Amino acid sequence: MKKIKKNPRIAASILSADFSILGKEVKDIDKAGSDIIHIDVMDGTFVPNITFGADVVASIRKFSKKLFDVHLMIEKPSNHIDAFYKAGADIITIHVETEKHPIRTLEYIRSLGIKAGISINPATNEDNLKYLLDYCDLILVMLVNPGFGGQKTINSQIKKLCSIDKMIREEKKNILLEVDGGVNIKNFSTLIKSGADILVAGSAVFKGGMKMYKKNIENLKNTWKRIDNKENS
Ligand code: DX5
Ligand code: ZN
Repeated sequence: MKKIKKNPRIAASILSADFSILGKEVKDIDKAGSDIIHIDVMDGTFVPNITFGADVVASIRKFSKKLFDVHLMIEKPSNHIDAFYKAGADIITIHVETEKHPIRTLEYIRSLGIKAGISINPATNEDNLKYLLDYCDLILVMLVNPGFGGQKTINSQIKKLCSIDKMIREEKKNILLEVDGGVNIKNFSTLIKSGADILVAGSAVFKGGMKMYKKNIENLKNTWKRIDNKENS
C-alpha cells in the first residue's frame, strides 16, 4: 500500500435514491457534499437489473452542476454515447466486457470533449486494461458483480486495485482510479490507500434518509482524514 498524494472524492450513486423524487435527491446529495453524481445505467442484459436511460439523465441535469459520472452497464455502449453526452454526462464509462473495440469507443467519447472511463468486472483480469491506458481518463474497478446496490465488496478486488494503481504509476499515466460496490466506513481508507481517487457510494450515502446524507458523507471523509493526519504528521 502506498502513501496518499491527493484528496479522495466521493461519488454518490443515485441507484440508492428514491426514484420518485430523483431530481430532489440529486439536489440534496449535491448540497450534502457529494463531489460527483454517479449514475448507474443498466440494461437488463449485461446486468440483471434495469434502471434508466438518457432522457432521465437529461431531466435531472438541472438539479446539480457537479460532474455527472455515467456508468454504462449496457451491451453495445457505442450506440448510446451520443445520447448520454447530449443528456449532460461529464464522464462516460463503458465496460471492457461489453465492447469489442474499446479503443474506438473511448476515443469517440474523448472527441466529444468529456472524460472517457473504462470499467472492469470482478472476474476480469486487469491485463485487459493494458492496451487501453492511452485512451482513458478513468478506470472504474468494480468491487462487486454489477447490477445492484447494497452488496458486499469482494475482497480479492483490493489486490486488483493495487495492481491497477501500480500499472498506472509505472506507465506514468494521468488516469483517475474509481471504485464501486460495497464502499463503507470500514473499507474507505483501505481503498484509498490501495489507490482509489474516487469512491462511489450508494447505500453508505443514502442510508437513514435525506437528513443523514451530509453526516454520512462527512463520516466517510473523516475516517480518511483521521488516518491521513496521523500518517503524515
Ligand atoms: C452496482 C453499481 C453501484 C452501486 C453501488 O452495480 O454500479 O454504483 O450503486 O452501491 P453500493 O454503494 O450500495 O454498493
Ligand atoms: Zn456504478
